[in-house]
Amino acid sequence: MIEIDRVTKRYGTTTVVDDVSLTIPPGGVTALVGANGAGKSTLLSIIGRTLRPEAGTVRVDGLDVAKTPGATLARRLSILRQENQVAVRITVRELVEFGRFPYSGGRLTREDLDHVDRAIEYLQLEQFANRPLDRLSGGQRQRAFIAMVLCQDTDYMLLDEPLNNLDMRHAAQTMTLIRQMAKDLQKTIVVVIHDINFAAFHADRIVAMKDGRIVADGSPQSIITPGTLKDVFEIDVPVHEVAGRPLAVYFA
Ligand SMILES: Nc1ncnc2c1ncn2[C@@H]1O[C@H](COP(=O)(O)OP(=O)(O)OP(=O)(O)O)[C@@H](O)[C@H]1O
Ligand SMILES: [Mg+2]
Repeated sequence: MIEIDRVTKRYGTTTVVDDVSLTIPPGGVTALVGANGAGKSTLLSIIGRTLRPEAGTVRVDGLDVAKTPGATLARRLSILRQENQVAVRITVRELVEFGRFPYSGGRLTREDLDHVDRAIEYLQLEQFANRPLDRLSGGQRQRAFIAMVLCQDTDYMLLDEPLNNLDMRHAAQTMTLIRQMAKDLQKTIVVVIHDINFAAFHADRIVAMKDGRIVADGSPQSIITPGTLKDVFEIDVPVHEVAGRPLAVYFA
């Protein structure tokens, strides 16, 4: 379980995460949605303890993330960042191997290598495995970073816009994989997504942020309504039902 208790983050006098409390029970996919600047990445970074809040606490399975050693937390919780850069020139396989670092400390066992191979296969990166990251397309590189996080094999996964740069097929496959991991492996996944329809289709729960606060929280059916979308995104969005699910037509 992830327990976020009254978390506040400020930059100067601007509050970007404002007294947020949220509980994410084990298992399932939670989609975090909201406009640019709403505070989604900031909240994820605080949960993943790469950012310190001014107030509040985050507990993962009862462990206060601010007080838990990095190596301990890294075996429970992984985070895919929105922006990914690597300074050195490394290959896809080397990047994915970093995912095993919390376990192997750099010395990969047979089991670590199995995880690496599986992650490369899941993201369909076999043909690029030995290619340096700077010689890949944007979407191929994004898949390499997802493979690295997958390889970390943690109970909790925080994915900040994993579908960035992915084509239709890879976006759909990645979301299906995320859903399967939650269902079959009981992982708890929080995923930031801008495409509200992807969120509606694949998430068990949608949490919407606006101006640093949580303004809506519920099932896709309860969130994907013209009224809630107007509150969250300040735009009129017709919602249709397709195959029994809500479909927001926001591109018209
Ligand atoms: N280092 C920083 N210094 C000052 N302000 C920051 C800093 N990082 C983020 N912010 C501000 O905090 C707010 C929340 O940013 P955040 O990255 O969490 O938004 P987001 O919801 O992830 O948006 P997006 O959908 O664009 O990724 C924004 O207004 C942003 O300008
Ligand atoms: Mg962001």
